[in-house]
Amino acid sequence: MAKHKIAILPGDGIGKEVIEAAKIVLDEIALDAEYIYGDIGWEFWCKNGNPLPERTIEMLKKTDCCLFGAITSKPKEESEKELSPELQGKGLSYYSPIVGLRQLFNLYANMRPTKAYPGNPLNYRDDIDIVVFRENTEGLYSGVEFHPLPDEIKAVLLKHHVKMKKFEDVPAEEIALSCRIFTEKGCQRIIKKAFDYAKKMNRPCVTVVEKPNVLRETSGLMVREARKIQKEEYPDIELWEANIDAMCMWLVKNPQNYSVLVASNMFGDIVSDLCGQLVGGLGFTAGANLGDEYAVFEPVHGSAPKYSGQYKVNPIATLQATRLMLEWLGEHDKANRLDKAIALNIKEGKVKTYDLVGTSKTLEVAEDIAKKYSAGY
Ligand code: NAI
Ligand code: MG
Repeated sequence: MAKHKIAILPGDGIGKEVIEAAKIVLDEIALDAEYIYGDIGWEFWCKNGNPLPERTIEMLKKTDCCLFGAITSKPKEESEKELSPELQGKGLSYYSPIVGLRQLFNLYANMRPTKAYPGNPLNYRDDIDIVVFRENTEGLYSGVEFHPLPDEIKAVLLKHHVKMKKFEDVPAEEIALSCRIFTEKGCQRIIKKAFDYAKKMNRPCVTVVEKPNVLRETSGLMVREARKIQKEEYPDIELWEANIDAMCMWLVKNPQNYSVLVASNMFGDIVSDLCGQLVGGLGFTAGANLGDEYAVFEPVHGSAPKYSGQYKVNPIATLQATRLMLEWLGEHDKANRLDKAIALNIKEGKVKTYDLVGTSKTLEVAEDIAKKYSAGY
């Protein structure tokens, strides 16, 4: 029996191409693993009315972790129009299968490393090395939303909050409400993940990125928990506090000053995209969706329909996802060697895709990195 059991979900568009690239490298690495491919994405929404089929969920449950490509999602009206005719009008509604996976497997931490590799012409600066920990299951993306605002909810809000008064006369259909739900446990576990990482990797500080002066209850809870956890459990690591708006400014001004960031779902989403662009953008950045028992690794980018079928996009983001997966599986030597091979490919700047003003194809970059891996540079 193989040592690791890995689920592979290529998904849609370029998702399939970058996963093919990752497989070239995984084969070269000769990881002792069994790979099981599964269905996910737009095709299965259109055909079966479910972008995350039950059989895929059952398959994932039998594996150690998952490598995911990318999926296509479209707005409500378009989703319904593209459903196969016999499924239309049955009240099916599309939901993002990757968000579904995060919820189903309780993958509460989204970790996104953004490191500038020497020689990457897209680097904003060459000394950036930031790791973002984004809460992945609650906050403003909890999905508890209303439009129109039900009368009962409006009445309760009016009763309990004086600031609701100014909305009293606005008609229900003219109000939309999205709930920003934070739990103590949710805050604690993402903060601990960030500090654990800082401790393990000898990072000097963790910056909590919120807005407690305005979002007094939710951001307030997060910052309070961060202070408590730092003081009680990680006294040797500094805790810095920054507001999300100021942080965006600081990250453009002095990104080299930051090391580990931790934030709630939406702020983490924003700040990790900003960090990603500082080190080359979507062709380079990957994320790990981490729970206590399961993990899903993915490039940050989507299915890029305009490049689908052309084998043109940069596979490095997905190779970074692969590297994170190797780390998580405890295959540190292989992960380090892959990191070196990626770094050398970037530094040489010979075999590169269009985003680096190159003409190489997706699989050629993967083959070059695989070759460098085996040469053991
Ligand atoms: P996208 O990330 O697919 O592509 C945006 C642009 O970024 C591309 O047109 C391309 O110029 C560049 N790009 C993306 N990946 C690249 C790579 N590997 N190498 C070089 N350049 C790259 O985002 P877009 O176009 O907004 O969305 C397309 C579809 O993907 C939508 O249906 C969207 O919902 C979905 N999506 C899925 C995600 C996921 O599966 N996790 C994440 C983001 C979007
Ligand atoms: Mg995002």
